[in-house]
Amino acid sequence: MASKLRILGIETSCDETAAAVVTRMEDGSAVTEADVVLSQLDEHSAYGGVVPEIAARAHVDALDTLIEEALQRANITLSDVDAIAATSGPGLIGGLLVGLMTGKAIAMATNKPLYAINHLEGHALTARLTDGVAFPYLVLLVSGGHTQLVLVKSVGEYERWGTTIDDALGEAFDKTAKLLGLPYPGGPAVERAAANGDPKRFAFPRPLVGEARLDFSFSGLKTAVRQAAEGIAPVTDQDIADICASFQYAISRTLKDRIGRGLQRFSETFPDDDQPALVVAGGVAANKAVRQTLDELCATNGFRFVAPPHHLCTDNAVMIAWAGLERMALDMPADDLAVAPRSRWPLDADAKALLAYGKRGAKA
Ligand code: KG4
Ligand code: ZN
Repeated sequence: MASKLRILGIETSCDETAAAVVTRMEDGSAVTEADVVLSQLDEHSAYGGVVPEIAARAHVDALDTLIEEALQRANITLSDVDAIAATSGPGLIGGLLVGLMTGKAIAMATNKPLYAINHLEGHALTARLTDGVAFPYLVLLVSGGHTQLVLVKSVGEYERWGTTIDDALGEAFDKTAKLLGLPYPGGPAVERAAANGDPKRFAFPRPLVGEARLDFSFSGLKTAVRQAAEGIAPVTDQDIADICASFQYAISRTLKDRIGRGLQRFSETFPDDDQPALVVAGGVAANKAVRQTLDELCATNGFRFVAPPHHLCTDNAVMIAWAGLERMALDMPADDLAVAPRSRWPLDADAKALLAYGKRGAKA
């Protein structure tokens, strides 16, 4: 059994600057001693999306102070951590450089090991920290940059079963909001508007539904939303609510079909697994219609549905720290300080690149 391990985590791959201190106890459980996240939402909202250059500068401005704050909250100094874990991809290269270089500098100055962490692995392993989910399990990662269904076999062993062939799900929410004149980020705004709308007023497409492959496609949905809005222009608040409700309904039906097939495939692949689980991660996991659809699907198929708390579904440094701790506990080697950040870094190196895979700097 591994001894008690404490790590400093750093996350800077997109528009959140984050630092965390997490300890893994001898029994494998985790204690989060500090979890600090600074969102750059205000810096980017005027542009309707993340501006890489602004993001990188904001990370430079904030990171040192944030690490200080994390150490203070944990009531420790750098000499009390056993290692450093920093996101080294995928994501926006400027931000990754800031976080990884800072991690390297600390590792070098303190003579501690550095773990260069795949951001997607952080998302994928979070449910083990929060809910002790055992391998193997399925993760649906739905964020502004990714829509992936991944089989998690063990630490470092991932199989991508499905991905989007065009827009990520969060991106579809954001684009829909933009063309309806709703604020950025679009997901929460669309969800709020949908609450007062009629989900059956517009029959929006459900791409790839019925196909055996487990991939997703959302760009047609966005086009259909635009055509619907143009067809009834000028739109009233009720029209917007109805479009948003119908949009969410189409997404729920699409997820039901796609993920339903994923659960079936899991059951066929692991017929003896008596505790199968589906984990959801990423910003879109906050959406109640999405959660409810997945929850019902899991109940019908005998799967445990695990949705970590919202602040651990969106970008944070706790998940990066935890991914490092999982590696340490298995005596996996630390990284060489020459390690370079990677804007693209698929979890499953064998998965074939689909059209537009890794778009938008592979933000997750
Ligand atoms: O994981 P995340 O915070 O950031 C990255 O993409 O890395 O995800 C942000 C995405 C945005 O596209 C946002 O619109 C979407 O998650 N989102 C939502 C909701 N809250 C955030 N989408 C639908 N419903 C929500 N309530
Ligand atoms: Zn992410």
